[in-house]
Amino acid sequence: METNQMTKVWSVDNDVENTVEKLRSCTQIVDAASLLRAGEVVAFPTETVYGLGANALSDEAVEKIFLAKGRPSDNPLIVHIGAREQLATVAGEIPTKGKQLMDAFWPGPLTIILPKTDRVASLVTAGLESVGIRMPDHPVALAIIEEAGVPIAAPSANRSGRPSPTTAAHVLTDLEGRVAGVLDGGATGVGVESTVIDVTVNPPIILRPGGITREQMEAVIGTVALDPSFQVGAVETPRAPGMKYTHYAPEGELWLVTGEADHVRKKMSEMLRDAKQHGQKTGVLATEESRSYWEQQPEADVVLSVGSHTDLEEVAQQLYAVLRDFDDCQAQFIVGETFSRDGLGMAVMNRLEKAAGGRILSV
Ligand code: TXA
Ligand code: MG
Repeated sequence: METNQMTKVWSVDNDVENTVEKLRSCTQIVDAASLLRAGEVVAFPTETVYGLGANALSDEAVEKIFLAKGRPSDNPLIVHIGAREQLATVAGEIPTKGKQLMDAFWPGPLTIILPKTDRVASLVTAGLESVGIRMPDHPVALAIIEEAGVPIAAPSANRSGRPSPTTAAHVLTDLEGRVAGVLDGGATGVGVESTVIDVTVNPPIILRPGGITREQMEAVIGTVALDPSFQVGAVETPRAPGMKYTHYAPEGELWLVTGEADHVRKKMSEMLRDAKQHGQKTGVLATEESRSYWEQQPEADVVLSVGSHTDLEEVAQQLYAVLRDFDDCQAQFIVGETFSRDGLGMAVMNRLEKAAGGRILSV
């Protein structure tokens, strides 16, 4: 594995006038797509997070994704398509509920697990008979996939275990010198990854909460089950292989404190004071509501807000960037509050719990 290759960076204007058709003729997209066709690995923006793409039909190309990320080989990748016509190349029979979900939410942050075809590179599915597929809702992503002319396997473009990248700068921090190129299309919108739903079972089951909520899907296909592993206090092994790893973690030790507001603040203060006494640089993952309080507390060295408790979309959008900012400030011990699990809150809490590696205190 070449780990000191030249990483090309192309900027694409984040212009509302940019249609997929127009983008396909831009030199940046043409260049990036030709590298993908040549079996190289290129990062690009989607509406959720940046993805690290390679030709999903080539094991040789897909292997480079695992090497660049340092990703365990038993963790399958999501295949991205640019148009419904590409579906038949990668997916076998599609259950009715799968079709209904595609009609309702594609392009968009929903990955649908389907039976795979033989054309899908075996490394993509980590030996499983199923494949996760999504059509991203981002003109740059759609343009590069269409221009490459092949389905594109793409995990989030971070080093394995790190918070997913929501800007091209995050991708470069993790992967410069390890990938052929990065298409910079500005900050991503949703901020947390797609929802992963398995429609090969009935009722369909959410394997990873994400940008499309359970409530939104139930409005279209009726009952949707939840993988028991990400419900509060769960002990089950998750069915999505990627969900069992520690993930999204900042370098500092992150703790979450949950309970009645006054008790939470008191406990957080105690923990911060204790960490400071041990010589650690402390951080608080705050909200718009609590930021000014923490800024006045001497035990909090770094205070970063992820947004308002009443705007979970904003929290989702900023979460990973804030986790990375704690690294830039070299925070060694970080405490944070928890959020409602309603709607997008389920995805936010799932990522926060993973980032905390199970360090959650109820007070
Ligand atoms: O928003 C997203 O989904 C981003 C962007 C780039 O599209 N991609 C992303 O990929 O988050 P990744 O590789 O970081 O996460 C894929 C998740 C993992 O938890 C993996 O285990 C699960 O999807 N997955 C993929 N294929 C699967 C399959 N056949 N069965 C069960 N889980 C699968
Ligand atoms: Mg990931």
